[in-house]
Amino acid sequence: MAVSILFVCLGNICRSPTAEGIFRHMVREQGLHDRIQTDSCGTAGYHIGAKPDKRSLATAQKRGYDFSDLRARKLEAKDLDRFDHILVMDKSNLDDTLQLANESNKHKVQLFLSYHTDNDIVEVPDPYYGGPDGFEHVVDLIEDASANLLKSLK
Ligand code: 4NP
Repeated sequence: MAVSILFVCLGNICRSPTAEGIFRHMVREQGLHDRIQTDSCGTAGYHIGAKPDKRSLATAQKRGYDFSDLRARKLEAKDLDRFDHILVMDKSNLDDTLQLANESNKHKVQLFLSYHTDNDIVEVPDPYYGGPDGFEHVVDLIEDASANLLKSLK
């Protein structure tokens, strides 16, 4: 049985596709792609069908990640039943995702950075309206948390 992970942010063009792309890369590198399935989505529908933001793709590409195949979609209530772990980028995503949850699936929803090495870091900040440093910071946070998430699943 495969375990399934869903990464969630607001627009599904910056943070959650970056998380899916980096985590997927680590899963493939370790030959675990038959056992760990990944997806991402946004709580808002502004960018449905769009490619990841060019700035996210360019920042991650410098470190060897490619997720240009991903396309944005909106979170649906049934995702909370379909996926084993629903990992959200910030507290606002947490509130919005829990709005769609019920008693039997709400335990699956967690802040992704609960896997970060530094317990004081809890949110992946939205880089959309900021400069390039914000995108670098997103990749730094996601690389750390992804490595720990993968260790915890093994
Ligand atoms: P994301 O970033 O949630 O990391 O994909 C955003 C992308 C788009 C918007 C906001 C955040 N937007 O307002 O269009």
